[in-house]
Amino acid sequence: MKVLVVGATGTIGSAVAAALSARHEVIPASHTKSAHKVDLADPESIRKMYQEVGRVDAVICAAGEAKFAPLASLTEDDFQFCLSNKLMGQVNLVRLGFDYVTDAGSFILTGGVLAQHPMAGGAAISLVNAGLEGFTRAAALEAPRHIRVNVVSPPWVTETLAALGMDTSQGTPAATVARAYVRALEGSGSGEVVAVGGDR
Ligand SMILES: NC(=O)c1ccc[n+]([C@@H]2O[C@H](COP(=O)([O-])OP(=O)(O)OC[C@H]3O[C@@H](n4cnc5c(N)ncnc54)[C@H](OP(=O)(O)O)[C@@H]3O)[C@@H](O)[C@H]2O)c1
Repeated sequence: MKVLVVGATGTIGSAVAAALSARHEVIPASHTKSAHKVDLADPESIRKMYQEVGRVDAVICAAGEAKFAPLASLTEDDFQFCLSNKLMGQVNLVRLGFDYVTDAGSFILTGGVLAQHPMAGGAAISLVNAGLEGFTRAAALEAPRHIRVNVVSPPWVTETLAALGMDTSQGTPAATVARAYVRALEGSGSGEVVAVGGDR
C-alpha cells in the first residue's frame, strides 16, 4: 500500500514509518522536516499537501499538538490551540482527504491514553483525545467507498518519558506502539479505538 504518514519525523511517526517500510511504500509528511510539509492547524496547508501527494491507499497521522498544563492555568487561547491543532487538524485530514484515498482505503488517527485515563494537567489533552474517539466512531459510519477510519490510543511512550527525564518503567517503546498502526492498516476494522499492547 501507498501510505501517507503525517508526523513521520516524530517519536511515534518515525517508528510507524520504519514498521511499514518493509511491506508498504511510505510517503513522509511533517511540519518542517519532511519533503512534504503540512501544518495540521491550517486547512489550506492540508489541501496543498494532498494536491502534492495525490492518491494514496491510507493516511496515518502521528502528529497533533495539545498543551499539558494545570486546568487553572489553561487559557481560552490554549484550548483553542489544542482544538485547532490535534483535534480539528486530524478531523480536517479526514474530511479533506476522502477524495485522495482509494476505495477501501483507510485513515488512522492518533488520540491517546488521557482520553480514558485522565491525570492532573491533562484536561486539554483528554478533551481532544476523547473528541477524536467520538469523531472516529461517527466518521467511520459516513466514510464513502468502504474507506475505514480508526484511531490509535497510545500510552506513554518510553522514548518520550526518557526525553522528559521521567520514569520510563511504565512506558511502552515506540516500536510497540507502531505495531498498533500496522494492525489498524492491515486489518478490516473501522470506527475503532485501537489499543496498544492490549492495554484496553
Ligand atoms: N509520545 C507519547 O508518549 C504519546 C502518548 C500518547 C499520545 N501521543 C500523541 O501522539 C502524537 C505524536 O506524538 P510524538 O510524541 O511522536 O510527537 P513528536 O515526537 O513531538 O513528533 C511530532 C511530529 O508531528 C509533526 N508536527 C508537529 N506540529 C505539526 C503541525 N502543526 N502539523 C503537522 N505536523 C506537525 C512533527 O513534524 P516536524 O518534525 O517536521 O516538526 C513531528 O513529525 C501526538 O498527537 C501525541 O499527542 C504521544
